[in-house]
Amino acid sequence: MLTRRDDIYRSVQMPEVFSSRSCIPTEPDPPYQWIPVMTDPPEHTKFRRLLLPQFSASRVDDLTPTIRRRCIEVLEGIAARGSCDLVADFALRYPTSTFMELMGFPAEDFEQIMHWEHTILYADPDEDPDRQRAIAATFELYGYLAELRRARMDQPQDDLMTYLLGCMVDEEPLSELDWSNICLTLFLAGLDTVAAQLSYTFFHLATHPDDRERIVRDPAMIPNAVEEALRYYTVLSTARKLTRDIDIHGCPLRAGDMVAMPYAAANRDPDAFPDAGTFDIDRPVGRHMGFGGGPHRCLGSHLGRREVQVALEEWHKRIPRYRLADGVTVMEHGGPVLGIESLPLEWDASE
Ligand code: HEM
Repeated sequence: MLTRRDDIYRSVQMPEVFSSRSCIPTEPDPPYQWIPVMTDPPEHTKFRRLLLPQFSASRVDDLTPTIRRRCIEVLEGIAARGSCDLVADFALRYPTSTFMELMGFPAEDFEQIMHWEHTILYADPDEDPDRQRAIAATFELYGYLAELRRARMDQPQDDLMTYLLGCMVDEEPLSELDWSNICLTLFLAGLDTVAAQLSYTFFHLATHPDDRERIVRDPAMIPNAVEEALRYYTVLSTARKLTRDIDIHGCPLRAGDMVAMPYAAANRDPDAFPDAGTFDIDRPVGRHMGFGGGPHRCLGSHLGRREVQVALEEWHKRIPRYRLADGVTVMEHGGPVLGIESLPLEWDASE
């Protein structure tokens, strides 16, 4: 396991040695391939190039009114209640509905999508010990995508699924399998990460009233607060598989070994960030690795960042003061994406 920011940063820039064929330290030979996450250059570059225009900064600027509208719709149902579970009622719902619109998933399938997402990503080791339910849900999702693919081929729409149908790799249209794997990857990469980042950011603001008051008084601080949250509460860590023997700081590693790359450790490295263990809302935006680095640096970074910023803006306009419900113990879960199980918040709805 690499723990220093510079070592992690350097290694993810060397895909010829640190391969992305597996990104889960305990699963060196996965029987599936998330595209583009689990591909290496030059194959990776081809897929990445197809997707980049859909996730550029200017595309996200164009999407922002849609993102804001979705956020407000979810919040309207919550603000007057005086309490909610931030995770279930907001952090999962808002990115899911935004993402569904972007992809072109029918709005009436929302509950079904949430169910698949939950079953695939949060397989409970007691209830689903050999991940049979998670695997079954993945296949159901493939079936669902195949139906939508047929519908889009008959009747193209202005959405990401249709865009991908028109994409060419090596002068051939994407195969059905590659098309499905890309859609599935976007689904898994774009929902849980934003939900987890929102959960930790609201956990912080609910338990640090001084920071919360700062952004309520001066919403222009929100982008900086979001960057510090991405650094301090780093939700995604990764791994790479070695293609050859190598020696790192005197530690011999063999071809085929998995190397864990906890971006969370990189982001709390005291040599890279002064007072790294403190959340400092005024910290100048630096070289954090909340979105990773190298060729696989988060494709959705502009979108993810904007979703969190819009959430903080719109939430605090409606609910400026809130607290953790009494007697709550906040439970986290591990996995490739860290997360908070539930975050019961309360506020005075008449304020
Ligand atoms: C705040 C929210 C997000 C965080 C913290 C986050 C974090 C990350 C990180 C750390 C990586 C690098 C993984 C590695 O090195 O192996 C990554 C990759 C990726 N992310 Fe995000 N992400 C977020 C939102 C999104 C969104 C909204 C999308 C859009 C659908 C997205 C799509 C992707 C994809 C497709 C990759 C793989 C890129 C490639 O392999 O070239 N992410 N993300």
